[in-house]
Amino acid sequence: MDVEIVGRMLSTLPADDDHPYRTGPWRPQTTEWRADDLRVVQGEIPTDLDGVYLRNTENPLHPAVRNYHPFDGDGMVHVVGFRDGSAFYRNRFVRTDGLLAEADAGGAQWAGVSEMPSWSPREDGWGARERMKDASSTDIVVHRGTALTSFYLCGDLYRVDPFTAETRGKETWGGGFPLDWGVSAHPKADERTGELLFFNYGKQAPYMHYGVVDADNALSHYIDVPLPGPRLPHDMAFTENYAILNDFPLFWDPSLLGQGVHAPRWHRDVPSRFAVIPRRGRTEDIRWFEAESTFVLHFTNAYEDGDEIVLDGFFQGDPEPQDNGMGTKWQRAFRYLALDRMQTRLHRWRLNLTNGQVREEQLTDSITEFGMINGARAGQPYRYAWAATGEPGWFLFDGLVRHDLHTGAEERLRFGDGIYGSETAMAPRVGSTGEDDGYLVTLVTDMNADASFCLVLDAARVADGPVCTLELPERISSGTHSTWADGRELRRWHTADTAAAAIGL
Ligand SMILES: [Fe+2]
Repeated sequence: MDVEIVGRMLSTLPADDDHPYRTGPWRPQTTEWRADDLRVVQGEIPTDLDGVYLRNTENPLHPAVRNYHPFDGDGMVHVVGFRDGSAFYRNRFVRTDGLLAEADAGGAQWAGVSEMPSWSPREDGWGARERMKDASSTDIVVHRGTALTSFYLCGDLYRVDPFTAETRGKETWGGGFPLDWGVSAHPKADERTGELLFFNYGKQAPYMHYGVVDADNALSHYIDVPLPGPRLPHDMAFTENYAILNDFPLFWDPSLLGQGVHAPRWHRDVPSRFAVIPRRGRTEDIRWFEAESTFVLHFTNAYEDGDEIVLDGFFQGDPEPQDNGMGTKWQRAFRYLALDRMQTRLHRWRLNLTNGQVREEQLTDSITEFGMINGARAGQPYRYAWAATGEPGWFLFDGLVRHDLHTGAEERLRFGDGIYGSETAMAPRVGSTGEDDGYLVTLVTDMNADASFCLVLDAARVADGPVCTLELPERISSGTHSTWADGRELRRWHTADTAAAAIGL
């Protein structure tokens, strides 16, 4: 392995930190690395694996104003790239305006998710709650050969080089970017059309918007999606002809909002609602469908089936888990983030466009979340979803499951005690002929070895374990979302000179 340190951020966190989401598998990194020709610990790097795995993580650099929340940390992008049977690694902080301002000030300038916006030292800020830092630490997608990082409470989209992880400024969409509202995490890139579909939300009417960015990167469609009040949508879905947004009954308690308190409450007697919009439809074209009360963090996919839209996602049996009194104060504070507490199960809604009815069914008893699919099947009928299993009581992933949605069969892999994975991306093999003809790529944080590794698995044979294991230069922090970008697709957007320089091959 050819490795060098290319950067290091100053951290003002205490050496004896005891916060459960700034220690252990969530210990933040401050070092930025360049590593080429990664050491193969086990197996062999497939020569038909070509592209980059991109993962966003939260890495706080300063103590919170008062209470740190795991989603407050600054975004750091990890890249593991594969080509011709070798692999490279890069990691870089996303150079957000917030990170740079706090580096100048030497401490937190904005209150986080577990704090009151009024506690922010600065009056300005970003996000649906306002006066927050846009950490760009939640999600990462690739559009037109550029990675875009985002923050779950809305903010800028930062343009990140998918080979070097270097920040290349903010997305503007030719001046069309909605700077006043920002963009939520989970914009959707449609590989078939080259479009990017997105939404945003906030505390002022109409409370949500929906938009479409063309393959030429211009904002070409942007409409109001009126809601009854401020909501907390996290994800969306799309089919060949429709976008699907949502209004779930988990939202800030309206009686406390006036006091500046943002307390999410589940209103179990209020139905869930789905908005179906023709992809270039107007506000008056929106059709709403009602379903059982729940909250969904993530959808796996949606597609059209005759008169129906089939929508798959993770139904929460308990969107507002209560503190059960177990563990330390800090541990109890974040138990609600654990999949076993939220009771997340793969679920299917069938929205009938002819009669307006909804049929829904639980697809499995297994508790999984963070489902990934073969990106070529997005918006199309599909069969497989690969999802994460959760470490009980923690926001950590201890394994993965291959869901066969045709047969209901499930194949599992557990990483092992003290080993935690990231959201696992599906990488179609070069010359792929089937939906599961490819690899799964994930990063693990191994507390036993005090190291991190990249695992590559056969997407059709998950239980067999990795086909190869690669060593990273340093143990990384756990985090949230990831994606896969096909190398041939990326090279379409980069000149050979630029790509060669960026990859360093
Ligand atoms: Fe998410």
